[in-house]
Amino acid sequence: SQRIIIDTDPGVDDAIALWLALASPELDVLGVTVVAGNVALKDTVRNACKIVALSGKTATPVFAGAPGPLVREQVYGKYAHIGAFNDELVPDTGLQPRAEHAVDFLVRTLRQAAEDNDPISLCVIGPMTNIALALGMHPDVARGIKQIVTMSCAFTALGHRVPWAEFNVYADPHAAEKVFNSGVPLIIMPLDMTFQALIGAEDIGALKQDGGLPGESVAALLNAFDRSDLSRFGREGGPVHDATTVAWLLQPGLFEGQPARVGVAVSGHTAGYTYADFWNKLATPANAVVMQTVDESGFFSLIRRVFSRYGDS
Ligand code: BDR
Ligand code: CA
Repeated sequence: SQRIIIDTDPGVDDAIALWLALASPELDVLGVTVVAGNVALKDTVRNACKIVALSGKTATPVFAGAPGPLVREQVYGKYAHIGAFNDELVPDTGLQPRAEHAVDFLVRTLRQAAEDNDPISLCVIGPMTNIALALGMHPDVARGIKQIVTMSCAFTALGHRVPWAEFNVYADPHAAEKVFNSGVPLIIMPLDMTFQALIGAEDIGALKQDGGLPGESVAALLNAFDRSDLSRFGREGGPVHDATTVAWLLQPGLFEGQPARVGVAVSGHTAGYTYADFWNKLATPANAVVMQTVDESGFFSLIRRVFSRYGDS
């Protein structure tokens, strides 16, 4: 099975990504490293612990990481009103994070992977602060990373937190810049693509019905979080951005993408703005494959299939 570390700021869509990975024998989740983002660090950590506990994979270690961005002032996401997943939506089980800092865990584990010549895939679904700190303080850890699969960036789609940027990049553009220029191969799941897969009432009902405790929690969270933005999408349903990263690891054929050099503005009024140089105008080698389309029905049947394992156990 493929070894991965998930760096996350749960987040409803982060929860779906984590539960997908934790139920997949094809993936060996070595650890969950947590960052501030959608909500404050103490809440993202608590949410991550609840998610891991409900999956039944309670041996999966959770590590608290950076409480805020490298340089810019802190911004939170749009899930603020759900905050810590409240106990009615997602029951608390008392699982605690480890004492080790997330960045120390990343450095230690990635160095070992480099030494063993067995690099690890990182699934990065929050602001990239933890990863930038690890790469910035110890550049040698890049050799332990097989690839970074990240939900971030907006190229032709409008940003949703601010019009010019996607949240994970907006929340820490300097960290994104560090990661983009690290030389590690990137697989980018931008808003342009994630907005093509909208979960509707039928799939939510199926997850609730067949998905065990995680499925019930996903349904409760998605229903608590308003997902019908008809004015934006022209149809009912809401995006589950982060889940696309794990889906790509499980079934890459669901997605189509193009190589490009990707960069980010770190300062000025449009800080967080990202570009993808598909036509090689900058004459700079590609650092990423940018996903552009997703097979929506294939994606949701994968999610239903994987979640049904929680119902069976
Ligand atoms: C990203 O921002 C967060 O709100 C989501 O969890 C996702 O990682 C989407 O732009
Ligand atoms: Ca996220």
